[in-house]
Amino acid sequence: MTSNPQPFPSNADPLTDPDWWRQAAVYQVYPRSFSDSNGDGLGDLQGVTAKVPYLSALGVDAVWLSPFYPSALADGGYDVDDYRDVDPRLGTLAHFDDMAAALHGAGIKLIVDIVPNHSSNRHAWFREALDSPRGSAARERYIFRDGTGPDGAQPPSDWQSVFGGSAWEQVPDGQWYLHLFAPEQPDFNWDNRAVKDEFLATLRFWSDRGVDGFRIDVAHALAKDLSEPLPSSALLAAEGDGTDGAHAFWDRNEVHDIYTEWRALFNEYTPPRTAVAEAWVHASRRGRYASPEGLGQAFNFDLLQADFDAARFRTVITDNLVQAAETGASSTWVLSNHDVVRHATRYGLPATPADSAKGQDGKAWVLAGGPEEQLDRAAGLRRARAATLLMLALPGSAYLYQGEELGLHEVAAIPDADRQDPAFFRNAGVEKGRDGCRVPLPWTPEEPSFGFGTGAPHLPQPEWFGPAAVSLQDADTDSTLNFYRRALELRGKRQGAEELAWVPSAASVLHFTRPGGWQSITNFGTAAVALPAGTVLHTSAPLEGGLLPPDTTVWLG
Ligand code: NOJ
Repeated sequence: MTSNPQPFPSNADPLTDPDWWRQAAVYQVYPRSFSDSNGDGLGDLQGVTAKVPYLSALGVDAVWLSPFYPSALADGGYDVDDYRDVDPRLGTLAHFDDMAAALHGAGIKLIVDIVPNHSSNRHAWFREALDSPRGSAARERYIFRDGTGPDGAQPPSDWQSVFGGSAWEQVPDGQWYLHLFAPEQPDFNWDNRAVKDEFLATLRFWSDRGVDGFRIDVAHALAKDLSEPLPSSALLAAEGDGTDGAHAFWDRNEVHDIYTEWRALFNEYTPPRTAVAEAWVHASRRGRYASPEGLGQAFNFDLLQADFDAARFRTVITDNLVQAAETGASSTWVLSNHDVVRHATRYGLPATPADSAKGQDGKAWVLAGGPEEQLDRAAGLRRARAATLLMLALPGSAYLYQGEELGLHEVAAIPDADRQDPAFFRNAGVEKGRDGCRVPLPWTPEEPSFGFGTGAPHLPQPEWFGPAAVSLQDADTDSTLNFYRRALELRGKRQGAEELAWVPSAASVLHFTRPGGWQSITNFGTAAVALPAGTVLHTSAPLEGGLLPPDTTVWLG
């Protein structure tokens, strides 16, 4: 199969190459849990700067920085108080510039997270809205409605927020505002020109500061049809499979008018700024977000939602390469991020009945919820390494989440009192939430908080983080860290045209070739399989007697 006939310009000047993102390996930094330079228990920008040599040695092409803006952390920073500043606990704009310069100096691009669906309830505009009367211009920047029932004491509709509970919150004068996520995250009114202009100014602000690209949070929720009467949840659910662009708030067709304006701004820069949509939409609608006239790329979470299964992986890969070819964007591959159970843990739990079906509500973290006592840590990590090596051989860009290069498992044993995720609190503890993949990284076993910082980390680290620390893995040639480094180095050298050809194989084996004779073979089955001729470039686990053992990927060249 050929997904893009254009050769990847691997010798292009990375400073001006407009296609740098097409096959980039992008490393997601969740800054409050990466590295803490000042001992306050929260990771910060100087911490990221200090680890640029680590990122460089890892071999990533870009860093995606999750929100670092001022925030009360009602949702891990996705509740933004000010889109053009740095949380004082994480640093200053000058520290941001230092970090960007250090990354760029190491040849690493910088992508920042933009959260346009909602601000925080501490944003100056929202405070102004609360201080202003009904119908005022300040309230028109958000979505305020009168309630229903006697005295308007009931919410305007029965809509539930993604984190659980009503999607409406009442304010002292009796009106209600919409929050598709936490109550501390009021939704903007994207029909309002002032909102559009404000975000264009924010995108320009960071683009002028040298940011290379943007990750767009809940990109499919901005456009809303809130004409009265508001439909009930039951009516919305009955509307169909979400492919008509007519849902009241998810994936409406008009959302792309917003991104057309953004694209015009991105294209004013050299190279054009890139953007990747976080859009939990029906696969047939993803291409709209990824189009060159729009954001340019959209996350494909299909691999992340698939069980470790040859047939599922094959279908997901085939479908997404076809789709990428149709849109002109390269595909994106993701196995872990800050919203989901780490893939080493997912693959070590009993398989879910079918792929954890995720709809448009963004509840990605309810993946693979098997009882923890059934977790097979070794099997999970073995499969995770095999899946990662397969993913890194695919054409397109690969998104890696901090800590997966250490083979970290999800931290399940976080005391309720230490949990932070609103998904945990708003579901009365039914959902564990996403804190388990956001525990601060272990850098060295000897120091307090395993070298994350000198203060108590904002989420407690388990004892088993010690043996997983970077310093130990650095010294161990067989470590998962060195496995990632080698894979990324080889990927960088081997990456050619965005082409993949399947090689016929047993049902439990996936075998494909890339240009230049690069082959990737994964054994999802239970018995070792013979390998074709070729030089072994890399394996996710040692070969056994020249055979490819179960749950293992090999690259041949
Ligand atoms: C998606 C982000 O990845 C997630 O962490 C956040 O909670 C929601 N969007 C709301 O901003």
